[in-house]
Amino acid sequence: RRVLVLNGPNLGRLGRRQPEIYGTTTHDELSALCVEWGLGLGLDVEVRQTNHEGVMVDWLNGAADDETPVVLNAAAWTHYSYAVYDACAQLTAPLVEVHLSDPMARPEEWRHHSVVTPHAAAVVAGRGVDGYREALETIAAA
Ligand code: DQA
Repeated sequence: RRVLVLNGPNLGRLGRRQPEIYGTTTHDELSALCVEWGLGLGLDVEVRQTNHEGVMVDWLNGAADDETPVVLNAAAWTHYSYAVYDACAQLTAPLVEVHLSDPMARPEEWRHHSVVTPHAAAVVAGRGVDGYREALETIAAA
């Protein structure tokens, strides 16, 4: 089963970006881990990252067309993008929301709301890179 792992803005700098919050694993390493975890779960995983909202909407629209399950870390868009909200609303296969940190436990009030959660079968937050494994396990079990 094909699965898309879609990562939003600033996640391309993983490993160098505020490692005390997001850890030291790079996006390339995360990507390789997701593919490997997917293989173990019988999933054909493709990982993508973009800093461009329209590109993310296009990918989500493609997943809606193809009925592809999605693991989504929408990063900052999580908290305010109604375009991402509307795109998630169109998905028919399972959507799992993932965050490396736990936005609900962070001090900025604006991180406490998610436009993705209303459409998600599950939310995995605060578990670092391993959260992606849990998200893939959720999709494999769905
Ligand atoms: C994040 C949490 C968001 O609040 C933040 O804007 C990110 C990353 C996470 O993975 O912890 O960019 O989605």
